[in-house]
Amino acid sequence: LSTIEFDLTKVAEGMQVVIKWQGKPVFVRYRTPAELATIKAEGAVGSPPETDADRTKAGHEQFLVVIGSCTHLGCVPTFNSGDYGGWFCPCHGSHYDASGRIRKGPAPRNLDVPTYEYVSDTRVRIG
Ligand code: FES
Repeated sequence: LSTIEFDLTKVAEGMQVVIKWQGKPVFVRYRTPAELATIKAEGAVGSPPETDADRTKAGHEQFLVVIGSCTHLGCVPTFNSGDYGGWFCPCHGSHYDASGRIRKGPAPRNLDVPTYEYVSDTRVRIG
């Protein structure tokens, strides 16, 4: 399927759900207020430097939707690990923050944000 819909009520605060889209894992993460406060205080970081607002949709900042494939060589990063409260890629040691921005290690860029939109307050369509 070129597009899929996901019901955001299926992801609990502080957790992520991994769904498949076009053969790739997609992480849907519901960030906590503490995670959001940390991320917002950091401003534009990563590669390329981006704010969290650049990577999310206005009014839905608690949710992050990213392709769950390390931008180094494509391993699937591990949730809630690494030095920046986001993901850690065990293959060669890339650390991503809770906005999916690369902060340390060999990955050349932030986790990719797929094309998606909100079809209601609790549903997104990816693709
Ligand atoms: Fe993730 Fe190399 S594939 S660090």
